Amino acid sequence: MSFSYPGGQGAVLRDITLGVARGETLVLTGATGAGKTTLLHLVPRLADPTSGRVLLGGTDVRDIPLPRLRAAVGCAFEEATLFSASVRENVTFGAAGASEEEIEAALTAAQARFAYDLPWGLDTRIGEQGMALSGGQRQRVALARAILCRPEVLILDDPLSALDVQTEERVTTALHQILTGVTALVVAHRPSTVALADRVALLHGGRITAVGSHRELLAAEPAYANLMTMEHEETLR
Ligand SMILES: Nc1ncnc2c1ncn2[C@@H]1O[C@H](COP(=O)(O)OP(=O)(O)OP(=O)(O)O)[C@@H](O)[C@H]1O
Ligand SMILES: [Mg+2]
Repeated sequence: MSFSYPGGQGAVLRDITLGVARGETLVLTGATGAGKTTLLHLVPRLADPTSGRVLLGGTDVRDIPLPRLRAAVGCAFEEATLFSASVRENVTFGAAGASEEEIEAALTAAQARFAYDLPWGLDTRIGEQGMALSGGQRQRVALARAILCRPEVLILDDPLSALDVQTEERVTTALHQILTGVTALVVAHRPSTVALADRVALLHGGRITAVGSHRELLAAEPAYANLMTMEHEETLR
């Protein structure tokens, strides 16, 4: 498929053919502005391709009723959207019947246990009209939500970008368990997060320029090796 923003200058995604097998974690990486977030948006239909198709289990996503599609695809985007509601409501959105234990497990996996220490614990109102959370805290609440609704497909857009290295390490370890057997499309920059991948796809200038294991790409793709070295140095700084 290809994608252009209405009124935008040319195609942001060009001739993309990319498959994610059931149970596979595919990490999408590439420089800033490469089109990673745009590509993720096409799965839960936050946008539709300009040409071509996006299939979920063989069905064009446009033929799946939107509520059914949104229930099947759990997302945590880079700019985490929280609702003006309590932490509990934010986390259980899409998983209304979740038990207290399940909520706690999701918050723990997402390293979001700080929520228990807020003035009213999980009943503390956050979001626009509530308590202001940091970017990293918002990301972790959004991640807990995505984990809790146990979607068939998990879409994570740089879910760890606002975390410090130590927190990131803990979330990565927890994510590793969560992603086992789950069909996931994850945008990541840092080598530590890329390590979660069964396969890595490199997006450059709107095209998929390489797909393979982290090792294969490191050995064969100078652009990939550069990207990883840059990110690694960024992390150490
Ligand atoms: N709403 C929009 N309208 C027009 N152009 C857009 C819009 N959103 C993004 N773009 C453009 O599309 C291209 C890809 O953007 P996208 O956000 O998908 O990149 P990205 O790979 O996610 O980058 P980053 O790593 O910085 O998050 C960029 O050139 C961007 O300027
Ligand atoms: Mg992005």
